[in-house]
Amino acid sequence: MSSKTLDDVNVAGKRVLLRADLNVPMHGGAVSDSTRLERLVPTIKELADKGARVVVLSHFDRPQGKVVPELSLRPVAEALEGVLGHKVSFAADCIGPVAEAAVAALSDGDVLVLENTRFHAGEEANDADFAAALAKLGDLYVNDAFSAAHRAHASTEGVAKYLPSFAGRLMQAELHALEKALGHPARPVAAIVAGSKVSTKLDLLTNLVTKVDILVIGGAMANTFLAAQGFNVGKSLQERDLHETAREILRTAAAKGCEILLPQDVVVAEVFAANPHTQVVKIDAIPANMMALDVGPATVAAFISRLPHIRTIIWNGPLGAFETKPFDASTNTLADAIAKATKAGKIISVGGGGDTVSALKLAGVQNELTYLSSAGGAFLEWMEGKILPGVIALSKDLSNIG
Ligand code: 3PG
Repeated sequence: MSSKTLDDVNVAGKRVLLRADLNVPMHGGAVSDSTRLERLVPTIKELADKGARVVVLSHFDRPQGKVVPELSLRPVAEALEGVLGHKVSFAADCIGPVAEAAVAALSDGDVLVLENTRFHAGEEANDADFAAALAKLGDLYVNDAFSAAHRAHASTEGVAKYLPSFAGRLMQAELHALEKALGHPARPVAAIVAGSKVSTKLDLLTNLVTKVDILVIGGAMANTFLAAQGFNVGKSLQERDLHETAREILRTAAAKGCEILLPQDVVVAEVFAANPHTQVVKIDAIPANMMALDVGPATVAAFISRLPHIRTIIWNGPLGAFETKPFDASTNTLADAIAKATKAGKIISVGGGGDTVSALKLAGVQNELTYLSSAGGAFLEWMEGKILPGVIALSKDLSNIG
């Protein structure tokens, strides 16, 4: 990454506009998972300790350019104060007189959170005037929101045109981990891609077959691949119109020397419900009245038997319908094996994506991979080989400004 970092700037006494991702899960008005807040602590602490006046910018949810009181960042700012162990003040707007007065009142080392940037239509439109109004509040811009870097919005991209810009510590850590996993990985490198649909991960599959040595396909998307190869998948979720696409991916993989591992057996049930009657069947024996809801034990054992020959593993997507027991079994078993191999120093493991993070948390291994990304969509787009506007904006040389 060619962007500048906090090592390249003296922030003492400066107003630092810090783009964070405070888009955290909330339940009943309270933050229900503070992982994203915890990940921001190193950057905010470093800035505050070095005497910066920290002005935190973020979106929250999707208010579509209007003020939606239930989507205020105020409760998140309060939660951030608890996680940080440092006073955090709040301003009820992110531009204009309210924000300007709050920023003017800051002393060195203070932390302020501004209201949801998406309360203004200019944020998602990446409007130049809105970006300039944000930039007015800072002397420097630090982006620590890798998880929002796939959005070309005013606070993630536009504002970098007006201020000297730097990557925060979390942004650095995310980019470093992803570069290690996919940019210049230790080989052989394997990817596990699972989830319900081939259609939502088409770009991902297409990119990965050209980059990785082994591609493990699980989840309901594997049913589409199995059906495309002529197996009868019964009532299983599948995308019939994507059979030819699936075959094309298999052909490309073969041409590029990427080995594809598909399920050998599956766990089936007549209904998708908690703890129904289940059966483990081989993929050529899926009953017509049943659906596959998890990959089977022989499949997981086959994946695990390959681990000693793999140096890097990237994981996106749970192998089964993990939120409903017992269809979390294969994900948990594989997560455990990957955690052990990581701990033993045998592999570098990187996971990411909304469902993947939830599944790995449920499996109790969220701290045992080499790196677990805090990003959902941005992680996916990075793995798809796409350029992230928020990352690119940081690598433009603005050293002549300020
Ligand atoms: C996320 O949670 O993935 C990011 O905060 C981006 O949110 P968005 O999908 O609403 O842009």
